[in-house]
Amino acid sequence: MPVRIIQYGVGPIGSAIVRALLERAGVMIIGAIDIAAEKVGRDLGQVIGGRPLGITISDRADEVLAQRADVVVHSTSSSFEQVFDQVLACVRAGSHVVSTCEELAYPFRKYPELSRRLDEAAKAAGVAVLGAGVNPGFVMDKLVLTLAAVCQRIERVFVRRVVDASQRRLPLQRKIGAGMTVEEFREAVDAGRIRHVGLPESVALIAEGLGMEVEAISETIEPILAEEDVTTEYLRVRKGHVAGVRQIARGIARGEERIHLDLHMYVGAKNPVDEIRLFGTPEIGLQIPGGTPGDLATAAVVVNAIPLVMQAPPGLRTVLDIPMRFVAAF
Ligand SMILES: NC(=O)c1ccc[n+]([C@@H]2O[C@H](COP(=O)([O-])OP(=O)(O)OC[C@H]3O[C@@H](n4cnc5c(N)ncnc54)[C@H](OP(=O)(O)O)[C@@H]3O)[C@@H](O)[C@H]2O)c1
Repeated sequence: MPVRIIQYGVGPIGSAIVRALLERAGVMIIGAIDIAAEKVGRDLGQVIGGRPLGITISDRADEVLAQRADVVVHSTSSSFEQVFDQVLACVRAGSHVVSTCEELAYPFRKYPELSRRLDEAAKAAGVAVLGAGVNPGFVMDKLVLTLAAVCQRIERVFVRRVVDASQRRLPLQRKIGAGMTVEEFREAVDAGRIRHVGLPESVALIAEGLGMEVEAISETIEPILAEEDVTTEYLRVRKGHVAGVRQIARGIARGEERIHLDLHMYVGAKNPVDEIRLFGTPEIGLQIPGGTPGDLATAAVVVNAIPLVMQAPPGLRTVLDIPMRFVAAF
């Protein structure tokens, strides 16, 4: 029997996920949900830039979810509070959920009560819910924990990810403030519009995975300015204007910084890289020159997670509970 899937949210990431799903055998997409007026009523295949699939995108989530998919793949928003009712509806319809919502990667610390409610609902329905993706969900947390398997003792964790956002989708270029003046950037940061979401969640995942009792997680955000004019497929950044963000998240345990995550995400970045360094016994590091390609990798992680989530114990899960590996066949 093919795995029956509903795609909830057909933005650039939802579209990339659908394209990746169409490449896999053993999968059947049975429905698609989105509220954007320019997508509702249109064929899913055409909206993602391919051949018609005979699936009409609907904004009536309850009607689509009533088909009771095996798995709902969810990619609408980064905020756990915003997606809570959407994910709860999927769970109540009896479907497992894999979501790219960044805060869902580890919601327990920031939203203990909502997390408890979602966990209980998932257990009652006998389904699993997972927040998955490349970051959070892999490069700055799960990969760190995987590397940590060869350590006897870990005192400190350092991770640096440098992303050339010129290669990424428009919503991401907007979310990092590319093209703004510094004043506009600071206003947008204060209003909560500019920020990569997910670094504190990665700190929390690492802390739990390593058994570090982190008493505080802090985060800073600063603009990175363009050293020359940069033109992307979507926008132009003038020299001296904002090219993107540098965000640092720190996990403090027993008064000392034990986890340091340093994310540079900007258009025109010269040397993209993912770098992990674990200080302890042995001291060990890992570099991915060029960095992990965010959007392609997110679609891959989500698709690979589908059969794993179907086998997971019911409840609100994290990548700590799931092996996260390549799955050749569903
Ligand atoms: N964890 C990771 O590694 C990772 C990686 C990539 C992306 N993400 C996250 O995944 C999410 C999707 O990314 P994206 O770039 O595709 O975002 P996007 O451009 O905002 O697309 C989201 C789509 O979902 C629709 N939508 C919003 N609220 C909805 C609702 N209540 N019901 C149905 N549809 C709704 C949006 O419609 P409107 O345009 O009308 O709002 C839009 O069409 C984002 O939150 C992104 O930050 C996570």
